[in-house]
Amino acid sequence: MIIKRVQRKAKEWLGYKLWRISVVRRLLALAVPYCPLCRALFNRSFIDLTKKTGWGVHPQSMYLITHIVRQHRPQLIVDCGTGLGHSLAAELCGILANGSGRIISLEHDAQYAPIAQAKFRGWNAASIVVVPLKANNAYDFEPDSPIDLLVVDGPPMALTDGRLNTIRHFMPFLSEKGAILLDDLDREIEQQVVQTVVAEFGLQVEVIPEGHHMAILKKRQQ
Ligand SMILES: C[S@@+](CC[C@H](N)C(=O)[O-])C[C@H]1O[C@@H](n2cnc3c(N)ncnc32)[C@H](O)[C@@H]1O
Repeated sequence: MIIKRVQRKAKEWLGYKLWRISVVRRLLALAVPYCPLCRALFNRSFIDLTKKTGWGVHPQSMYLITHIVRQHRPQLIVDCGTGLGHSLAAELCGILANGSGRIISLEHDAQYAPIAQAKFRGWNAASIVVVPLKANNAYDFEPDSPIDLLVVDGPPMALTDGRLNTIRHFMPFLSEKGAILLDDLDREIEQQVVQTVVAEFGLQVEVIPEGHHMAILKKRQQ
């Protein structure tokens, strides 16, 4: 009796997993061929979206990031936490499709930067910079022009105040119509970050409950 129930549960679980994989594959098969730039990027094996992205942004969030870049047409994106480059690949898709703009991706851990640099070599719109973290765990970096899109997916969660202080650090550099994307809003610590920056800077917030959940933060327009 128990064995049969376990077998049934295992079959249901396996069926669900296979269904999800095939849905993602079919959607990709449909979407990617329509975008030559995405095709070029994914053919270069940046990322296999049918596999889990581990520490990277969720595949659903990658589509969202590309969409936001297409909509906002940022001239400067600062990507916090290069890691293995999932968020960066999504930003680059949007920038290449827009035909203008550049990305500076910040990595504090010298272990990851060379891996990502090798992947993105030759794509001049994206530069990966190794920068130390300050004592408050924000990236020690100042951009040379206003930031139109700040993507915050680093530093890692273990550096608890890192993302909050990163947003505080970059706020003076955010352009008037600039936006901040904060990933991992399914975690309590990021929810607290949103509450704090909304209170401190009077930002407006939109939450996208997909992937690891993402907040889009913008200055209130007068
Ligand atoms: C959430 S990860 C950044 C992921 C990146 N934005 C992406 O979408 O691929 C934040 C930081 O975690 C660190 N890290 C630690 N272990 C990692 C791993 N296995 N893969 C990627 N990043 C890792 C890196 O320093 C990275 O900058």
